[in-house]
Amino acid sequence: HRILLLGAPGAGKGTQSAKLADEYGVEHVTTGDALRANKEMETEYGTPKSFMDAGELVPDPVVNEIVKAALEDADGFVLDGYPRNLDQAEYLSEITDLDAVVLLDVDEEVLVDRLTGRRVCDDCGANYHVDFQPPEEPGVCDECGGDLVQREDDTEETARERLEVFYDNTEPVVDHFRDEGVLVEVDGEATPDEVFERIRDVVEN
Ligand code: AP5
Ligand code: ZN
Repeated sequence: HRILLLGAPGAGKGTQSAKLADEYGVEHVTTGDALRANKEMETEYGTPKSFMDAGELVPDPVVNEIVKAALEDADGFVLDGYPRNLDQAEYLSEITDLDAVVLLDVDEEVLVDRLTGRRVCDDCGANYHVDFQPPEEPGVCDECGGDLVQREDDTEETARERLEVFYDNTEPVVDHFRDEGVLVEVDGEATPDEVFERIRDVVEN
């Protein structure tokens, strides 16, 4: 399987990609996680952190390099967080083919609630939400006991900026795949398990 999962910030790409990669035994390739793991890396454009904390896109050459390296080693994959603009989409088409392109559709105000309520484990990276996916004990990871923290770009102001960046830069990518007739849209407003079933239906049919 070579699956591309598209969606706005907070649509559930990370949540669903992890489940899909598990289900199909393929790589989960996520530019967001890769960049967070290398936030302080010096590039000729500055650190990834300087863009991410402002909700802006990290420059294409940095991100393209990450994706190329990750896909080179992958037999199958679920790709999440890339491409985010038309130039990245063009680059992706040069390095790999795709079997499925899925868009997770979620209303803007729901996205803001999901982003501002998200908490992530400082140790293992597991994802929670204060209301929608609360941990058993507040502030503590169910998986590893690590501390749950808020991502620096999940304040309401930066979340809204990220959504603007999505509507300006990434919607044209969505339209591009729709015009090609390969895009399948999935309603992302349901429980994570229900959304997962919907995506699985699409991928397997
Ligand atoms: P990235 O990490 O990709 O962030 P994003 O696209 O903003 O997506 P999120 O991780 O916020 O959301 P998600 O869709 O994965 O949702 P999640 O499953 O976590 O990118 C971060 C930054 O890195 C960018 O701003 C940019 O600077 C840079 N970057 C990354 N890729 C780049 C690229 N290609 N080019 C340039 N720059 C790049 O869910 C969100 C919350 O909702 C969680 O709390 C979760 O628990 C909850 N939730 C999930 N599903 C449900 C559900 N069904 N019901 C209720 N709650 C749910
Ligand atoms: Zn943890």
